[in-house]
Amino acid sequence: MSIYLDHAATVPMVEPAIRALTESLGAVGNASSLHTDGRSVRKSVEEAREHIAELAGSAGSEIIFTASGTEANNLAIKGFYWKSGKKVIVTSAIEHAATMDPVQWLVEHEGAEWISIGVNSQGCIDLDQLKAVVNSRKAEIALISIMHSNNEVGVLQPIVEVVTIADGIPVHTDASQSFGKVPFSFSDLGVTAATLSGHKVGGPLGVGALIVKRGIDITPVLHGGGQERDIRSGTLNAPGAISFAAAAKFMCHQKYDGVATLRKTFWESIHRNFEDVTLNGSIDNSLPGILNLTFPGVDNESLLVLLDMEGISVSTGSACSAGVHRPSHVLIAMGLTEKQAMSSLRFSLGLSTTQSQLEDVVKALTTVLPRARAAYKG
Ligand SMILES: Cc1ncc(COP(=O)(O)O)c(C=O)c1O
Repeated sequence: MSIYLDHAATVPMVEPAIRALTESLGAVGNASSLHTDGRSVRKSVEEAREHIAELAGSAGSEIIFTASGTEANNLAIKGFYWKSGKKVIVTSAIEHAATMDPVQWLVEHEGAEWISIGVNSQGCIDLDQLKAVVNSRKAEIALISIMHSNNEVGVLQPIVEVVTIADGIPVHTDASQSFGKVPFSFSDLGVTAATLSGHKVGGPLGVGALIVKRGIDITPVLHGGGQERDIRSGTLNAPGAISFAAAAKFMCHQKYDGVATLRKTFWESIHRNFEDVTLNGSIDNSLPGILNLTFPGVDNESLLVLLDMEGISVSTGSACSAGVHRPSHVLIAMGLTEKQAMSSLRFSLGLSTTQSQLEDVVKALTTVLPRARAAYKG
């Protein structure tokens, strides 16, 4: 039995993306070269850019291809900070490490001040706190960066309200987990910049994009050949961009209602069978595929390993920090104790998840939970 419930870490590549990648790997030419081969690759990249832009509600000229969502977040955080000359960066308390770590780096190396906005027990940011910060520090704020949806608990954030409160301060949103799974429109949100990641929509690893509003200039992180509007130098990963666009096109046209229904049924079944298990976040204001649960009296890593031995892949939280066993900053910010956070697991469903797989997971939990509890040292 092999059941993959870690779609938030990476989505298995979808067929159209594999086809687009393998076909374009054989094409010769650097997209910046002026000869026929180069121009042919450039044409395919520009088509990919237009496709992604259309699906993300932006203009093609606003898409800056990067090598990952992590790079796009770094470019947004550092690029806006350096360009503005201002010292304050505002984020939520539950951002991904790809946002928190560049901010922390600027604090340690460049004298930045980081203001972190708290969240409620559902993971939703405190808009009153944000309002108070903007009212008292507006002239000093370089950037507000609030993720569109959270990778650990799935909660969706009120980005339109954030933009209204920001009142002209640049707003960046990390939409790595949202794009392709819930409605997302760069122009409708009114943000200044947004991050996308190729492998979170069934595209290849190692490609992402930062959407930067037309007319906005940010300081580059990478210097070199001046590709991507002089904002992101480096020879374009043409096959990656083309495959990313094919994946996005496929994913954005899928219906995610089925995934949300499966998740709800799965949660109801877990709740019926294991009454003390609690849900972190909410079922309604959430990405369709993410279910984060606390299993009292269990060490989450032990439970993960026991489930893995049954062929079931889940996660203790963000894949990027999964190598280090520490309580999730997201769950702590939502008010869980360290002990509760260390007893929590993320199940993330995708289009390939089936009802019978989830029934098998509930069955497996019936045998592995008592074993995990017996081994628990608290
Ligand atoms: C919310 C969020 N932002 C950024 C990233 C980083 O994206 P990438 O893996 O493309 O670097 C991830 C990946 O886990 C994520 O979940």
